[in-house]
Order: sequence, then C-alpha cells, then structure tokens
Amino acid sequence: MSVNQTPSHNALPALSGADIRQKFLAFYAAREHQILDSASLVPEDPTVLLTIAGMLPFKPIFLGQRTAEFDRATTAQKCIRTNDIENVGRTARHHTFFEMLGNFSFGDYFKREAIAWAWQLSTEVFKLPPDRLVPSVFREDDEAFAIWRDDIGIPAHRIIRMDEADNFWTSGPTGPCGPCSEIYYDFHPEWGDDNIDLEDDSRFIEYYNLVFMQYNRDAAGKLTPLDAQNIDTGLGLERMAQILQGVPNNYETDLIFPIIQTAAEIAGLDYQQAGDAQKVSLKVIGDHVRAVIHMVTDGITASNVGRGYVLRRLIRRVVRHGRLLGIEKPFTTQIAETAIALSEQAYPAVRTRQTAIKNELDREEIQFLKTLERGEKRLADILEGQPEKVSGKDAFELYDTYGFPLELTQEIAEESGIAVDEAGFNEAMEHQRQRSKEAHETIDLTVQGSLDSLADAIDSTEFVGYEQADTQSKVEAVLIAGESVNQAGIGREVQVVLDRTPFYAESGGQIGDRGYLSGENLVIRVEDVKKEGAFFVHFGKVERGAVAVGDQVSAKIDLACRRRAQANHTATHLLQAALKSLVDESISQAGSLVDFDRLRFDFHAPEALSAEQLQQVEKQVNTWIAEAHSADVQTMPIAEAKARGAVAMFGEKYGDDVRVIDYPGVSMELCGGTHVGNTAEIGVFKIVAETGVAAGIRRIEAVAGPAILDYLEVRDRIVRDLSERFKTKPEEITERVTSLQSELKTAQKDLAALKSELALAKSDQLIGQAETFGDIPVLVANLDAVEPDALKAAAERLLQKLGEGAVVLGSVPEPGKVSLVAAFSKPVIGKGLQAGKFIGGIAKLCGGGGGGRPNFAQAGGRDADKLPAALEAAKVQLKEALGG
Ligand code: SER
Repeated sequence: MSVNQTPSHNALPALSGADIRQKFLAFYAAREHQILDSASLVPEDPTVLLTIAGMLPFKPIFLGQRTAEFDRATTAQKCIRTNDIENVGRTARHHTFFEMLGNFSFGDYFKREAIAWAWQLSTEVFKLPPDRLVPSVFREDDEAFAIWRDDIGIPAHRIIRMDEADNFWTSGPTGPCGPCSEIYYDFHPEWGDDNIDLEDDSRFIEYYNLVFMQYNRDAAGKLTPLDAQNIDTGLGLERMAQILQGVPNNYETDLIFPIIQTAAEIAGLDYQQAGDAQKVSLKVIGDHVRAVIHMVTDGITASNVGRGYVLRRLIRRVVRHGRLLGIEKPFTTQIAETAIALSEQAYPAVRTRQTAIKNELDREEIQFLKTLERGEKRLADILEGQPEKVSGKDAFELYDTYGFPLELTQEIAEESGIAVDEAGFNEAMEHQRQRSKEAHETIDLTVQGSLDSLADAIDSTEFVGYEQADTQSKVEAVLIAGESVNQAGIGREVQVVLDRTPFYAESGGQIGDRGYLSGENLVIRVEDVKKEGAFFVHFGKVERGAVAVGDQVSAKIDLACRRRAQANHTATHLLQAALKSLVDESISQAGSLVDFDRLRFDFHAPEALSAEQLQQVEKQVNTWIAEAHSADVQTMPIAEAKARGAVAMFGEKYGDDVRVIDYPGVSMELCGGTHVGNTAEIGVFKIVAETGVAAGIRRIEAVAGPAILDYLEVRDRIVRDLSERFKTKPEEITERVTSLQSELKTAQKDLAALKSELALAKSDQLIGQAETFGDIPVLVANLDAVEPDALKAAAERLLQKLGEGAVVLGSVPEPGKVSLVAAFSKPVIGKGLQAGKFIGGIAKLCGGGGGGRPNFAQAGGRDADKLPAALEAAKVQLKEALGG
C-alpha cells in the first residue's frame, strides 16, 4: 500500500469537497460554460454498463449524432468504475464511485484554452504551487508539448511524454477518443527532477485529465477524425480533496471519512488504531456504500445480471468486509444513512430515495447472510471428504459464489485441521480479475469472459421468437457465476446458452422474456435474457433436477409477460408517431424503456409539453388503438426502409437489412423488438408523467395493455381509501376537499379572532401595571403567545384606556419569532419620541427590525430569549425620555 506524505509545509487552502465542486463549476461558468446536472449512473449509451466518465452523456454530441445546445458545458458527474474493484481500499485512490468534475467544448475551444484554464484553475483557484505540478502529454503531441512549454512556461524536462496506453483516452473499445494531457501533483518535490516517474504513486497523483477528442474509433480499431475538435476533461474530486485536505488518501477526505467512522463505531474500532487489514475493510465499506446509494437512487436494483449484478456484488462486499471487522448483525442501512447525509446537499435525490436504498440494503443483506449460511454447509461438505487441503478452486467458489472471505474459509477449515491452498485461491482470483478487466466495463461482467473463450466451440443462437413461443433446443453452454461448467444442479443460479430460442433478449429498450427451460427431470426458471455477441444467455435458477451441456430442453416463454411487453412496445411507437404528428415533426427519440408493466420514452424537445398537448397525444394513441391497425412486419434493405419514411433512431447500428414495423398510415419504425399483431391488442394507453431528464430531453412515462389494470388498481385503492376517509362517493371527493379547505380557512380565521379577543381580555388586566414617568402613564408588558394582529389590537385598546400615554407590548407568537408594538399619544411624541424609530431600536435587541408611524408601529425579531431584556430596555428608555 502506498501512503503519501502530508504536504504540511504547503499552505494549501483546506477546501471541503463541496467547496472544490462549487469552485470548479463557478470557474468554468465564468468562462461561458453551461453548468449541467450530473446525468444518471444508468447511461443512455448501450455499450457501457454504467456511467464511467463525465463525457459519457455527451458521447452523441462528440460523435455528431446530436447537436449540442451549448458550445461549452461543465458538470460534476457521478461515475462508477468496477474494473479495479480489488484495489479499492488497498491503494490510496482507487474507487468504484467517484465524482468527476469536467469542462467540455463541443467544437469550440481546443488545446490552448483547455490547458491555460486547467493551469489557472490549479494554481489560482486551488493555489497549487506551480513547482509541484508536472504535466504529461501524448508522445506524438508536439502541439500540446509546445503549449505547456511556451504558453505556460513549464521547463521542457518537466513535461513528460507518455505513450498510447497512458495518454490516449477512449471511453471503451469503440467511440470518441483522442490524445490527452494529464496534470500530476508532486508530493515529494525534494526528490528532484532527475528521475520523474509519473507512475510512482508514492510520489505523484494524477488529478486532471484533458482529452483532446478528435477521433472516432471503430470496432476494427480504425481512427476517423471527427467533424469537430472537442475537449473532454476530468478532474477527480476525491483526489483534489486529498491534495488540499492534506490527508494520506482519498478515503480520509471529508467526502468519505464520516462513513468510515460510522463503520468503525459499529465495529467498536478506532480507525487510527486499527490494523492495516481492518483499515482496508473500513475503506472498502466507505467506498462501496457511496456507489450503492447512488446506484439505487438511479433506479438500479440488485440482481444477477448487468448493473444489478454490480450492485449485488458491491453490497455483498460491504457485508463481507463488515464480517471481517467482526460485525455480525445487519449494519448496512446505518452506514447508508451517513453516506446519504454526506451526499444529500449535492444530490438531493439520495434523500428522497432513502427508503428504496434502505429496503434494497436490508433485503440483500439478509439474503446474503442466508447465502453465507449455505456456504458454510458447502464448506462442511468439502471438509467431510477429509481432503488434504481445501483446493484453491473450492476456496474461490466459496468466495465468489457464497461470498466467503478466504480468511473465513481458513478459519473454519482449520478447526478440522485442514489447510487451504492459498496460492491456488489467488490464482483463481487473478484469473477472474483479468477477465473482468478485459470486459472493459462492457455489458455483463458475469458471462462475457467465459463466452469469449467458448465462442469458437459453440454455435451462435438462432432466434425464433418472432414466430414461436416454444421450441426444442440444445444446451450449448452452462455457466455458473461466469465460469463455464459441464453441469449445474438444483438451486444453482445459472446462465444457459441455447442453439435456438424463442426468448427475446433485452435490447432496443425492450426487456428480456421470462419463462422456463424444461426437460426430463429438469426445470429452470428463466429470469432474464441478454444477448452477448451472437449468443442468447438465459439467466435463471435450476428449480428441479440438473442441467448439462448437450441436454435437449423445451424452451418456453411466459406468454402473458411477452404480451405485456409487446403492448408497451407498440404503444411506444404509437406515442412517437403521435408526438410527431401533433407536437413537432422533428421530435426524435433519445432513449426508451419497454418493461412488462410500463414504458418510458425520452425525446429531444426544447420545452415541456402542455397538459393539453399531452391529452391530445394520449387521445390520438387511443384512437389508433381503437381503429385496430394490423402490423405489417418486413425485412428490407436499409435504403428502402428510409425511402419509405421509416423512423430510425439516430446512432443506432443496423446491418444492411433492417426489420421494419409498419402499422400502415400510423407508424413505421425500424425495430428489432416484438410487437402486437394489431393495435387493438393494446387495449388502452395512459400517460402517467411528463418530466425533464436533461437539458433538452423530455420523458414520457406511460402504461399500456394488460399493465393498465395494475395501474388502475393502485389508483383505485387510493380513491377508495380517500372515499372512506371522507365518507363520500369517489366522484364527490374533489367537492368534499374543496369544502374542507374552505372550512379550514374559516376555522383559522375564527381562531385568529378568538386569540385576539383573548389577548384583549388579558390586556385589560394589565392596565393596573401601568407606571407614570414624568406625568405620563406608561405600560410596557409581555403578552406571551399572542399573534401580531391581536397584539396590535391590544395596544390600541390599552392606549385608549390610558389616555395620553405610551404603550409598548411584546409577544412570542410562535417559537423563534418575536412580535413588538408601540403606541404613543401626542404628549409622548411631543417629548421627541417616535413609535416607529423607538420600536425599531427595541426589535434590534431581539435580532430583528421594523418601524412605522410616529404614533403607532410594529416590528418583529427572531430571538425570543431576548424579549424580556428588550422590554426592560424599552422601559428604561421611556423613563429617560419622559423624565422619571
Ligand atoms: N474522459 C476522461 C477521463 O475519464 C476525461 O474526462 O479521464
């Protein structure tokens, strides 16, 4: 583990994480960058699982597929990377979740400005000493080198040229990319300039990456220049916090450390006194919990595939590291609360989603504790065979499938006097790490590696699900937790590849089919289906018997689920058609989701739709449904489809032949999804919400088909509940609420009047407390909890009773609020006193102010504790002015 020295001799500004975020955004906003909110961790881009960089939401702009509304933007973007998950907690700065601060130019400024501003921000805003900063450039980028040397004035020997692996940035195997220039902070300038090795992380930390995005890379690795030259930068918030807060690693910054402290408290530990391994566990918990709260906030739920798998793995790692620290009871929700409290100011949604977060953690934690129990059984079975050693493979299976830390396996095995093959375990672990690294965050971490190695040996899957709901198929491959196996028994979570399948695999926004694979003495419940290259991977659980490679199975989809999905899918097409025809012909799709129980359609539009437009759109879709249009599905060359006017989503990749879904005269779209044979099958379509998701992107959420019943049931329950509570018929609820509102208003008015009467009655008793200063009667009194209006009435009445006198009253109408009033008669004003000025001065003593006319004035304050002293002061002042 590398630990950097605290740069204590530097007077760096000790900025909080929040300050750094704010100063970064403000710096670029002052340079005409539009500040945009962080995009969701669930990217629109289908080639990556999670948002891995600040540039991802802008990818279509860099590729020229979407026009930017601004030439410049700046963001603080939530990101997650899991390719180095094993390093989290072990190095000073590896994370799963982190925030990337970025400034972006879409065909506007380029290298010169990007470098100059990055330098100015570093040295003037964050006040990093210039002699501690070392820039790197791509080996061949003489232009960037010259800018650093000539514009900024960095000595040439301190500008380090690096090769493609380090200084050519791409967001994935394909996509926009370009040479980059990074800025490193030097923790040990005293080690001299002779051996500058930027890879030495005990000395340097890279905190800012400036990417000069000018190419697109295709699948064959070929670079094509983009139409525009762009800038994409990323400054690691946690890293800058480490530098400025002078702490030895990112975890000890104010962005994460409070979470670590909560975990340490639960474990009964003192972080500073904890051992190295304990510190690693605490850091893993601190890091992962941040990822978890933001993932759930963005709608991800734990599962065995894709993003859901990443989430599950993170939660399990949190629980496991908790156990390593000796925490036996569920604890994750408590940790999450600290993480939510830390994040809520910058990301308020984590608070609104707190119940979802805590439910998810509760459920997963308890389920995982059960898995651990099963693991204990599995280990007991292994040990019963009295092996010489627990093999590395078994130990790794226990770790990977059952979440058993090696230490736990060792501890239990030791009780039987059996050792564990640690080297074998490490080998298996390294093997898996390599595999997920190679997957480069793409699609599904659980299966891709294994499928790549099987690709040559097995046939690709034939999809027959457009026409058939069941088939006889052959099992080509079986995987458990990403590992290819020959067979899997009951209770196993498996991934099965078939030679032929009726199951639709998740794509184009449509959810994968559900259903069963069955054979003689075999039942697998299929919970999801994904496409990996040419293979359809069926994710499920063996519920009966066992499945083996080569088995013949009957593959059958759940038709009810399929009908729900296709009703929602066709409704999405109709929705797009209605938007184009009724709102704006140029509306184009930005993304969509077709689930069993709902649909979501994101589209480019400058402003929200009016209630009237939404109503018209909904009505139009329902009219098309009622008109019963039959589908005409054809495969044709893309040129022909376009010539016929089929709607294609920008940026979608199609082969030469495309599938065209045509409801003649209504909607024609290129689409690989499944659809109803006739629009009448949809039944009903209902828009549930219209919201903004990003600048220039609107989202319509709706339900269609059988799912509408579920929707209605929920609504119906609410109405019935209200109807019972209000003891009225559903159709009369609105009227009842209106009348209750007006009753409430009257009651409030009456209450105020009563209070005022009460105050008056009370004030009558005060008259006896009047004193005489000079020959003028004066009454100063505290009426306690009286409303300002009532106080005013009391003052008027008391002055009337006193005659030519002065009245000053105070009260505390509600906690934290002071009300004051002064009523002076002519003789008092004649002595040079003005009610307005006078009461303003008194109000100041209670942390407030106010004023009014010479004879009558009101004021307020906040400091209720000070009221008695303020009234005492009023009395003294009156006495002095009027003569005691
Ligand atoms: N995309 C670059 C990175 O992630 C700069 O933002 O490092």
